[in-house]
Amino acid sequence: MHILITGGAGFIGSNLALYHLKKGDKVHILDNLSTGRLSNLEECEKYNNFYFNEVDVLIDEELDKRVNWADRIYHLAAVVGVFRVLEKPISVLSTNIAGCERVLRAVLRSDWKAKVVIASTSEVYGNRKSNQLLSEDMELYISPGINSRWNYSISKLADEAYGLSYVREHDLDITLIRFFNVIGPNQTGKYGMVVPRFVQQAINNEELTVFGDGTQIRAFMDVRDTVIYLDDIGSNPATKGEVINVGSNYEITINNVAKHVKSLANSNSEIKYISYDDAYGEEFEEIYFRKPDLRKLKKFSSHQIKWSFDDTLRDLIRRAKEK
Ligand SMILES: NC(=O)c1ccc[n+]([C@@H]2O[C@H](COP(=O)([O-])OP(=O)(O)OC[C@H]3O[C@@H](n4cnc5c(N)ncnc54)[C@H](O)[C@@H]3O)[C@@H](O)[C@H]2O)c1
Repeated sequence: MHILITGGAGFIGSNLALYHLKKGDKVHILDNLSTGRLSNLEECEKYNNFYFNEVDVLIDEELDKRVNWADRIYHLAAVVGVFRVLEKPISVLSTNIAGCERVLRAVLRSDWKAKVVIASTSEVYGNRKSNQLLSEDMELYISPGINSRWNYSISKLADEAYGLSYVREHDLDITLIRFFNVIGPNQTGKYGMVVPRFVQQAINNEELTVFGDGTQIRAFMDVRDTVIYLDDIGSNPATKGEVINVGSNYEITINNVAKHVKSLANSNSEIKYISYDDAYGEEFEEIYFRKPDLRKLKKFSSHQIKWSFDDTLRDLIRRAKEK
């Protein structure tokens, strides 16, 4: 199986690449290294079936050739992370929308129409006021214009609309994934991701900085479980034209995340609360409850989550201490 991963030098992509290489698949990564890192690919480089090009999917002149080679494409390349989204609100829209469309056009022109799995996000559910599980057929509450933090959700919704339209109009085999909070090796805290930031702060015995009051609820899943779901979805023809939540049902407040990290790292760090204004430099709309309805995912995959939240934290703490 030939696998093409755009954005593959990033957190999820590098773990996905390694998983497919271990299975014996050929893996080709395209990445402009804007947030991705070559160091994420050190394990992948040990395999003969691994190929990497440092290119921007928006301008790659050989995209058609690369797409034609693939049996399956994971389109993950995107501007991500709250800090980057707030800093680069235009490039979030242009990269995320134009990049996705460019990949889909290339698939349409190709002789061999690869299966395409596109990364969307649970952010498309927007700011809901209730603790209802988030399911794929819900109405979405995005507030365009109020705050550029929603540009990310808007860009991913546009990708979903593109994907579904290419299924309808051209019968391409495309699936949209709404990722919830994924954590694990190769994730950086630089762009706003909470768990790698807490881990680094805890092992440095620095204050663990909680944004807001810490009562916001998230459901975290280890990337090594995520990649198995992605492969199950990518190999199942019945997922064509579907939008699927990929996440876990283990819910935890950010306050408790901080406490778990502190205790598992045996850290003396204090927990410090920072207002959204101070954290993000502008008015920020927080999403207070974000937990997926997983009924649809379970229809397409029988995988049972192997990594508990604390096991992932222990592993991340160990890796961070070894660096
Ligand atoms: N990690 C999560 O919890 C999460 C949650 C929801 C959605 N997602 C989505 O999953 C995908 C992967 O996210 P991630 O967490 O691995 O982020 P990441 O930043 O580590 O990965 C994104 C990769 O895309 C690359 N990239 C960006 N623009 C590019 C371009 N124009 N051309 C080529 N490469 C480009 C970056 O260099 C990076 O390697 C993204 O599409 C993201 O929106 C992730």
